[in-house]
Amino acid sequence: MAKKSVARFRCADCGYVSLTQVGRCPGCGEWGTMTEETPLEAARGGIVQASRASAISSVDVLPEARISSGIGELDRVLGGGWIPGGVVLLGGEPGVGKSTLLLQACACMARAGRRVLYISGEESAGQLAMRGRRLGISERNVDLLCEPDLPSMLETARGYEFLVIDSVQSFRMDEGSGWAGSPGQVRAVASRAAEAAKSVGIPTVMVGHITKQGQIAGPKTLEHMVDVVLLFSGERTSRHRLLRAEKNRYGSTDELGIFEMTEQGLSPVVDPSRLYWSASDQSASGVAIGVTLEGSRPLLAEVQALSCATPFPYPKRTARGIEVNRLQLLLAVLERRCGIFSRSCDVYVNVAGGMAIQDPAADLAICAALASSLRDSPAACDTCFIGEVGLAGEVRPASQVHLRMREAARLGFGRAVVSSFNLPDASGIEIMGVSAISQMLEIIK
Ligand code: TYD
Ligand code: MG
Repeated sequence: MAKKSVARFRCADCGYVSLTQVGRCPGCGEWGTMTEETPLEAARGGIVQASRASAISSVDVLPEARISSGIGELDRVLGGGWIPGGVVLLGGEPGVGKSTLLLQACACMARAGRRVLYISGEESAGQLAMRGRRLGISERNVDLLCEPDLPSMLETARGYEFLVIDSVQSFRMDEGSGWAGSPGQVRAVASRAAEAAKSVGIPTVMVGHITKQGQIAGPKTLEHMVDVVLLFSGERTSRHRLLRAEKNRYGSTDELGIFEMTEQGLSPVVDPSRLYWSASDQSASGVAIGVTLEGSRPLLAEVQALSCATPFPYPKRTARGIEVNRLQLLLAVLERRCGIFSRSCDVYVNVAGGMAIQDPAADLAICAALASSLRDSPAACDTCFIGEVGLAGEVRPASQVHLRMREAARLGFGRAVVSSFNLPDASGIEIMGVSAISQMLEIIK
């Protein structure tokens, strides 16, 4: 007797499986995300045929064909450009400039002779055209589609060479339940769009909204479905926008794209080091310059520290641009390895320009800024610091130190304090190798 298949209900958001129908997912607590799943065997009438696997060496590999987006900063983050059939998800806060960036990319590609289609569920064709005029876009090859029916629009996409869907949360498919933007609908829309992109082999970008927590709205499976996830971010008060890859099946996720929002749309920032640092010929105590690396791009970071005597037994440790734990660790190293005490002081650290430093090679600059503030003695303003600091007070080498040195030399620094464990060859800049943090303190005395 054929085995009777059992109905299963799966959460479109977290994947929790239940054998009974429930309104609220017991796994993630979301309402209306449980949908009935047809077991594979039931769908195929109980007959399942074994698939054939193939050896990895026997699989044909097509040469990687990159299609330039025409925007250098975007190409850098993508790893060289769009991939035919590759699906990219671009997330970001409302108003950060996602639609602007994609419309500009469409125009650049159209200028290169490609036919592009911009599907919008958020704005009317009139609004898009108005924005296009403002951006100076008058390309004939950019077509707009602003209708509610996504499947028919995806059919129209055949014959185009680049497709934008703005946004994945604004469309609704009949096959899923819920309103547009609900986890089930987002999954249905994204999988249909990704399927269309793969079958026609055109690069496709989907715009995704993000939640208050800064994550892409919708089920986590959305990010698994696509090949590349890009995040576009920027402070409301600043004109600068940062583009990073959260996931990239075709390239690195370390690269950073930097743009400036202007009246004529987004323009690339050509010399990003100058965003976070401005040359000064006056030394101030508590200021030290580090050279950090974002992917393959060196960026100067101005670390500022301020220490202030406090009568309270628990001094404050406040940091902006670095983690407070890192600040506490480096203060402990300075105390135990170099005898620089900060117990009776509140200590504040800030990285100028709103930059957030992850790179461990900025440790030496942070220590230099802290020591300079605690001793109230300025470090020379033509000196930069590159190296990671260990708990024993040793200065460890930084990665790609020659790239960092080249950037420091280009911006006119006269001296660089680096780890003596791998001294780089650099011309135009004096290199001072140190193996311990105490040697660095001798230099900036
Ligand atoms: P938009 O691309 O609509 O953002 P998103 O699609 O991420 O929601 O960008 C809207 C913002 O960008 C809006 O606040 C105005 C600003 N902007 C400019 O400053 N200059 C421009 O040329 C354009 C088109 C937009
Ligand atoms: Mg938009």
